[in-house]
Amino acid sequence: MLYDAILFSISALSFAKAFREPHCKTTLLDPNWPPENEWNALNKTIGGSLIKTRPVASSCYGGDPFNSTHTCEEVTRNWGYSAYHASLPESINYPIYAKNSCLPPSAPGYTAEKGCHVGGLPQYVVNATTEQQVATAMQWASERNIRIVVKGTGHDLNGRSSGAYSISIWTHNFKKMEFNTDWRLPGGNGTADVLVTGSGINWGAIIRAAHTVGKTLVGGQDQTVGLGGYIQGGGHGPLSGRYGLAADQILQAKVITSQGDMLVANEVQNPDLLWAIRGGGPGLYGVVTEYVLKTYPSPENVVSSTLKLSPIGNNSESLDASWDGFAALLSGLPDLMDYGLTGSGSALTGKMTKPYVPSLNLRPRVEVSLSFFGCNMTPSDLLSLLEPARARVLAQGTKGTLTVSLLKPTTFPSFLSFFDSLNSSPSTAGQASLISSRLLGRAELCDIPQSSLRSYLERIMRSQVEDDGSTLILGLQGGLGPRQVEDSIRGALNPAWRRAYVHAISTGASVDATAAPQDALAAAAAWVEQHKERVWHEWAPDTGAYMNEANCFSANWKQDFYGGNYDRLLEIKKKYDPSGSLFVVSGVGSDLWEYDMTSGRLCQKV
Ligand SMILES: Cc1cc2nc3c(=O)[nH]c(=O)nc-3n(C[C@H](O)[C@H](O)[C@H](O)COP(=O)(O)OP(=O)(O)OC[C@H]3O[C@@H](n4cnc5c(N)ncnc54)[C@H](O)[C@@H]3O)c2cc1C
Ligand SMILES: *[C@@H]1O[C@H](CO)[C@@H](O)[C@H](O)[C@H]1NC(C)=O
Ligand SMILES: *[C@@H]1O[C@H](CO)[C@@H](O)[C@H](O)[C@H]1NC(C)=O
Ligand SMILES: *[C@@H]1O[C@H](CO)[C@@H](O)[C@H](O)[C@H]1NC(C)=O
Ligand SMILES: *[C@@H]1O[C@H](CO)[C@@H](O)[C@H](O)[C@H]1NC(C)=O
Ligand SMILES: *[C@@H]1O[C@H](CO)[C@@H](O)[C@H](O)[C@H]1NC(C)=O
Repeated sequence: MLYDAILFSISALSFAKAFREPHCKTTLLDPNWPPENEWNALNKTIGGSLIKTRPVASSCYGGDPFNSTHTCEEVTRNWGYSAYHASLPESINYPIYAKNSCLPPSAPGYTAEKGCHVGGLPQYVVNATTEQQVATAMQWASERNIRIVVKGTGHDLNGRSSGAYSISIWTHNFKKMEFNTDWRLPGGNGTADVLVTGSGINWGAIIRAAHTVGKTLVGGQDQTVGLGGYIQGGGHGPLSGRYGLAADQILQAKVITSQGDMLVANEVQNPDLLWAIRGGGPGLYGVVTEYVLKTYPSPENVVSSTLKLSPIGNNSESLDASWDGFAALLSGLPDLMDYGLTGSGSALTGKMTKPYVPSLNLRPRVEVSLSFFGCNMTPSDLLSLLEPARARVLAQGTKGTLTVSLLKPTTFPSFLSFFDSLNSSPSTAGQASLISSRLLGRAELCDIPQSSLRSYLERIMRSQVEDDGSTLILGLQGGLGPRQVEDSIRGALNPAWRRAYVHAISTGASVDATAAPQDALAAAAAWVEQHKERVWHEWAPDTGAYMNEANCFSANWKQDFYGGNYDRLLEIKKKYDPSGSLFVVSGVGSDLWEYDMTSGRLCQKV
């Protein structure tokens, strides 16, 4: 008894000691936030690469409180474009996740009262060009209990590349690009055809450079998307259905930890870290400065055609036919993808459709446009696959209820020209976004009655404001590629990808952007949980979601984003980031912390 009591008090003591560790990350409001002269000293040790955050839209406010480097006119003209935010040290695509801290008056969510503050943006940014600078700054910040965030392009849909009272590592200037046809595999006897690339490049630059040497890589569909977070979260694109996800292409990475260690992660050195960054989530284990990625011979051509479905009449027969046709189309996709087709497109309801036809009895109709791509085939090869699909969809309606058309195929003479066609208009930014998504496989698309599939589709496309309608973005990015990746190179990528065919993203939540951001997001998230996540879990209980394009507030995020890999990832996270410097929303270990966007405080839960 006595012995037990002694043991108990010893463990209580060590417990108490553990809890004497700081409970919250240090903020500017705390007495131990480093004074200016310490920041200046840090700046000297990292070659003058430290930037004090100056929100770019400051020039739109009286007196330009932060002395912005850009005029308000320039900011206003560019704010809606992804590439602009990528070019700036502090700015992100979806500023609501940085508390809408300093918006130009033209931006969604702007109100005069919000004013211009650093707010949810980092306090300082390291404009790094060397690994040593990253290591020094991260170690310095971790020792001072300061939060660290990582920004590549700032594209993140959940603002994971920003955070209040943080120091940001901006990887933008890691621009190395070296193709190597003979890269020696660590620990093996063979070599691989690779690209050694800095993490600050975007896919546009890589696909362009690869083209000049007859190569291509698994990258994003959008040219402005970067490598850093995209790859570590999974990374899909036009070639993922063929070769697996971008995370499946990593042969080696250079990773700088929050403790300042400069590590190489490959099959031989730090293999657990390699496993984690192969899809186990961005911004969590360290900063990747360089990747070694597999390359592939460029396809000889890409052939593409688009299938369009819409109801003809405004009566309920047409409306029903549109949903039945949509369900029939979806259930046929896995077979088409097994023949080598990939693609992307969307289904629209309500005011998202053009021209907008007011719904009958408030029941929406659906219109679908889906582009299919195939490599190394002829237009007639493509049509021979798509014509039967078209006929099957058309057969879902009686005469005069449905039009289903197949556009004349386009042949692109190179992967680059195809990629350019996908990027014919600049990608946009700035809206308040809260999406919900799911990975769907044969079990969810083919093995259930078409009537059930149709009913799930109608439910998942509901909109918070009924007539506003919603979009269901369809990515044909799974299939054979992810499934055929060898076990030995599979990392922590959500195992749900291995059985998935379609990555479906659903919109329809209304975010009141002018309200206080934290409250606006919480309100929309509650609606999404009720009306979207619930439907997915009924429809696709055993799959998961693609964390880079998902609802970060989902109650089931651990299982949905990481599957059975979560616990092992948490061990790796604790090993490489013992100071918990790298927090991202719905990231591994994030449930041990509470980030209050309003105050900017990030505190451990007790
Ligand atoms: C216009 C647009 C198009 C998109 N297209 C696609 C697409 O085709 N396919 C697809 O899969 N996804 C796509 N996405 C989603 C994309 O995967 C995410 O936005 C992803 O977060 C982008 O990664 P990033 O590094 O460019 O962005 P960032 O916002 O800079 O970073 C995202 C996350 O990664 C972390 N991070 C960034 N760099 C590093 C690094 N070097 N080391 C460690 N952590 C890092 C950040 O901390 C953050 O948590 C698109 C998004 C947008 C806005
Ligand atoms: C860091 O040093 C450089 C070069 O001296 C200087 O231009 C920059 O303003 C400094 N940054 C900060 C935050 O003081
Ligand atoms: C902006 O510039 C003015 C005038 O040079 C200076 O007094 C002020 O301190 C600067 N403000 C910031 C935040 O750098
Ligand atoms: C970042 O550093 C690069 C390389 O030194 C420099 O060219 C660039 O102007 C810097 N960017 C900013 C915003 O300071
Ligand atoms: C490398 O080659 C040697 C000699 O042929 C062989 O014994 C060894 O198993 C090989 N190693 C690997 C990792 O394949
Ligand atoms: C359906 O309604 C729209 C909008 O009211 C109208 O423009 C269109 O002609 C109608 N279509 C048919 C086939 O009646």
